[in-house]
Amino acid sequence: MNKASWSGIFLVVIGLVLGSAMAFGVYQVEAAARARRTPETVSPLSPPAPIALQADAGDPIRGAPLYDHACAGCHGTLGNSDRPLHGPLLNVYYPDDGVLAAIVRQGYGTMPLTDKQDLSDQDVADVIAVIRTFP
Ligand code: HEC
Repeated sequence: MNKASWSGIFLVVIGLVLGSAMAFGVYQVEAAARARRTPETVSPLSPPAPIALQADAGDPIRGAPLYDHACAGCHGTLGNSDRPLHGPLLNVYYPDDGVLAAIVRQGYGTMPLTDKQDLSDQDVADVIAVIRTFP
């Protein structure tokens, strides 16, 4: 074979290697996204009916330390999945504030309830405001 056909083969091989590397990279990124958002990480229970809180509009700045104290141990700080449990999904799958309030107040499956001695209605509204800042 002459020099031109060798360089042709060389280019095809380089193209195949780079192409598979890129496909593999895209696959990895997609798999990571699926792992974060897979429906299996949502509780199989049906969500409770929404309840109303006796509170002003939630304040995410006030709520941040309350979330860290009352929820992050099980659900992850900033909901970015540094804990296995539901962290990134709270905002996405629970868009209704009243349903979030009911889950906190009444408990949910194996999750213990939080009463008014632990978090006031205003505290819960502030925690929900923090969750609304999550991805
Ligand atoms: C002791 C650990 C623990 C704490 C603390 C905790 N949770 Fe949970 N939470 C759970 C568990 C476990 C579940 C799943 C319940 C089930 O499916 O049986 C859950 C489920 C939820 C769900 C439903 C998500 C889903 O689809 O599974 C929401 C919303 C939620 N918690 C919000 C909160 C909020 C807000 C706080 C803070 C006020 C909080 N949780 C504190 C353990 C906890």
